[in-house]
Amino acid sequence: MTDEPDVELEARLEEKERFDPPEAFVEQANVSDPDIYEEFEEEWPDCWERAADLLDWDEEYDDVLVDDEAPFYEWFVGGELNAAYNCVDRHVESGRKNHAAIKWEGEGGETRTYTYQDLYREVNEFAAALRDMGVEEDDVVTLYMPMIPELPIAMLACARIGAPHSVVFAGFSADALATRMNSAESEYLVTCDGYYRRGDVLNHKEKADKGLRSVEADVETVVVDRLGDELTHFLGKRHHDYDELVAEQSGERVDPVSRDAEDMLFLMYTSGTTGKPKGVKHTTGGYLSYAAWTSHSVLDIKPEDSYWCAADIGWITGHSYIVYGPLALGTTTVMYEGTPDYPEKDRLWELVEKYAVDIFYTAPTAIRSFMKWGKEYPDSKDLSSLRLLGTVGEPINPRAWKWYYKHIGDESCPVVDTWWQTETGGMMITTLPGIGTMKPGSAGPALPGIDAEIVDTAGEAVSPGDAGYLTINNPWPGMLRTLYDNDDRFINEYWREYSDSEADEWVYFPEDGATIDEDEYITVLGRVDDVINVSGHRLGTMEIESAIVGVPGVAEAAVVGGSHEVKGEAVYAYVITEDGTEGGEELYDSIIENVERAIGPFARPEEIIFTPELPKTRSGKIMRRLLEDIANGEQLGNTSTLRNPEIVEEIQAQVSAE
Ligand code: WTA
Repeated sequence: MTDEPDVELEARLEEKERFDPPEAFVEQANVSDPDIYEEFEEEWPDCWERAADLLDWDEEYDDVLVDDEAPFYEWFVGGELNAAYNCVDRHVESGRKNHAAIKWEGEGGETRTYTYQDLYREVNEFAAALRDMGVEEDDVVTLYMPMIPELPIAMLACARIGAPHSVVFAGFSADALATRMNSAESEYLVTCDGYYRRGDVLNHKEKADKGLRSVEADVETVVVDRLGDELTHFLGKRHHDYDELVAEQSGERVDPVSRDAEDMLFLMYTSGTTGKPKGVKHTTGGYLSYAAWTSHSVLDIKPEDSYWCAADIGWITGHSYIVYGPLALGTTTVMYEGTPDYPEKDRLWELVEKYAVDIFYTAPTAIRSFMKWGKEYPDSKDLSSLRLLGTVGEPINPRAWKWYYKHIGDESCPVVDTWWQTETGGMMITTLPGIGTMKPGSAGPALPGIDAEIVDTAGEAVSPGDAGYLTINNPWPGMLRTLYDNDDRFINEYWREYSDSEADEWVYFPEDGATIDEDEYITVLGRVDDVINVSGHRLGTMEIESAIVGVPGVAEAAVVGGSHEVKGEAVYAYVITEDGTEGGEELYDSIIENVERAIGPFARPEEIIFTPELPKTRSGKIMRRLLEDIANGEQLGNTSTLRNPEIVEEIQAQVSAE
């Protein structure tokens, strides 16, 4: 770690609050005419034809938007298309079959390149295999895989036959896998034997196997052989070896199924306020158009680029911006299995140099780690191929933004700070890199066609600079259509707060707090519900709480996010034991173990604070704000409404002693 501040950077950049896109970038940008904002406003909703035009349709749509059943909006109604055809076949047909689609690098340095032709072949063969297994249109196929090429191949194979996929992040536990499979009533699972993490072999199949024991359906499983060992079979379940399946289908071709624009492309489970994860439903026409459009306009992707989004496909960022957006545009998407600091802290920069990456997209938490490790790592590599940088997942503080801009982008790449969510399908608020002045710390204006407003609790627009709630007043093609099998929850979670249903005025509420400035630049402050953001991973505090109270000896628990230098937020758990005594090491370990078992290691508490009571209001509600203040070591807010104000100091003393 470099303790010395970068004097030059501090002096020159610290005071600077506005950065204009470099001219060289603007000249070549996919979108550089500022009139686009006005045009989208005037043409709305037909402006979204521009997004749909990036795709090939089997059947033209009749209407861009149908809002009869709002907020169950429908986009590109009457249109038909296939997502795999759009991401693979059409590039082969247009003479680009030998262009690299995926360049994959394993943690240990092994590499694989799939041209569009290679991808076409393997997607077809695996699609044929899935069909032979009995997968039919609309059957949900669960993909529980790490960052190996078979993951995007399986996604595209599902898309080809019209079977929605539900990708479960490989870091999730066996229990989390089972919950998601049961919720989606999924009868098919594609997984792998194991993978590498910082030189260790992780036994993934054991986790998948364990999860399957709690799945109600009689699941048929496909296992990818990542480790090259003999595959051991699953207990009493129907199973297949991926390589064998594909070999059996050698040369097979499967016609891409024409899907209705509104047919489900995939489900993605995400955390919400309650303990039960939400199955966000995305569609074929709207989602794919939106992923392609934002990849084109914000990420400035061109077919000849080497593009790298260093996220995991197990989250929405990887769906939209490793797989669907970039492949729809026919570019080369780089995929990396490992972590940024293994074997050395220059691993990512080594890959940028090796693949001559043009566009790099990552999360603020990663940038804060890079800063901590020091500029000598990026400085030791040639990063001059870079043209554009992006961030996503959490607010980025101006210092981290400037560090990224200078030490990775050499002050010659625009940085797009993109706000969006699993539910929005794609980016919503960010500068357009060929147009907008950048203000570090602020994501930027809403994208053309997106009507964002910051309001108070009554739904009235706040004045510039005042904190309020982020709302979206118009629908957009990439939006979620509902929560799987739960229309009521869809309405309650996103539309209840600020809509006037009687007047048929629907306002989407993403549960984020924000401010807006005179130029309509939005600074997103963070979640206002019980969701926290740990290293860019979205976690529900309720999910963690229910894992903790499941531990024998625990009576009650409250989980909050406390700020963390690198992770953004970290999990703080306040725990009351059954016998009222302070929990010992054993209980501590059991709590950690149970959280890892219920969710995954990434949800592990940073600190567990045993306390005889939790601060509660007179009506018995836990005052989470106070617990957050304590975790952050901040001045405490008002405690006069508490039933038990004395407990606050007690907890505070305990936290500062640790
Ligand atoms: C947060 C990730 C500030 C926000 C794509 C949102 C951000 C949640 C930004 C969604 C950003 C995402 N600035 N906050 N640029 N991007 N967020 O569903 O709180 O995993 O609601 O989607 O991340 O997380 P999710």
